[in-house]
Amino acid sequence: MARKRLIVGNWKMYVESPEEAHAFALALRRRVRGFKGLEVWLAPPHPLLPDVSHVLESSPVRVGAQTVSAHSDGAHTGEVSAKTLKKVGALFTLIGHSERRIAGDTNELVRAQLERALEAGLVPIFCIGERERERETDGEHFELLEAQLTSALSTIPKNTLKKLVVAYEPVWAIGKHAADAMQPSELQEMVIFIRKILADMLDRAAALRVPILYGGAVEPENAASLIREGGVGGLLVGHASAELGQFLEIIKATQN
Ligand code: PGA
Repeated sequence: MARKRLIVGNWKMYVESPEEAHAFALALRRRVRGFKGLEVWLAPPHPLLPDVSHVLESSPVRVGAQTVSAHSDGAHTGEVSAKTLKKVGALFTLIGHSERRIAGDTNELVRAQLERALEAGLVPIFCIGERERERETDGEHFELLEAQLTSALSTIPKNTLKKLVVAYEPVWAIGKHAADAMQPSELQEMVIFIRKILADMLDRAAALRVPILYGGAVEPENAASLIREGGVGGLLVGHASAELGQFLEIIKATQN
């Protein structure tokens, strides 16, 4: 059976207040019922997660975190463990988002975060992406993606990666508008490459099961073509996921 398309909203810091988050979740719960053939996940800021998760409990929308600590417990001021996230309602967590990598999360740290997420039973959405738009003739961007994937995944027991989701987000497209996003034909090439790296690390059948999402300037205008022609299993949506109308339009455009 074909896997449902997966649309993940990453609120970043766009939604700031508990009241706004609560109202958004209530409206999403009401509106999302009519959509078929896809899953909708949402990643609010940590403090808003418990209430959003509570509001969406009886709906098809699942809630998760934007990042997770690399430590399992103990003296780590300001960090939030995978166990705590799970307890307050998270199903998944983003890991290695480029905005976290720019803030200092190294490949090493990202691997530890992935381990903690898997130990706690959170679904990891593992983010990778090259920084520059200009394609190097020597294939530097391919090497970078391969390094991001292998440094995190190669030492992790394969049987624990059954729920892995990979999000490919070219950093140059993040935060821009639809016109600046990657074109579906270019995306298709990247998806084939990522799938091949996964097949080399896992086995072919396991690699085929990993949903590969695209993120970076997804808006209502380009959502349908990215998902239909880009060869991806879903989308990771940033700024447009914090606007209810836009998020619903994206969900509608990507229904099967
Ligand atoms: P954007 O962000 O949709 O605002 O480009 C995507 C992301 O960073 O996950």
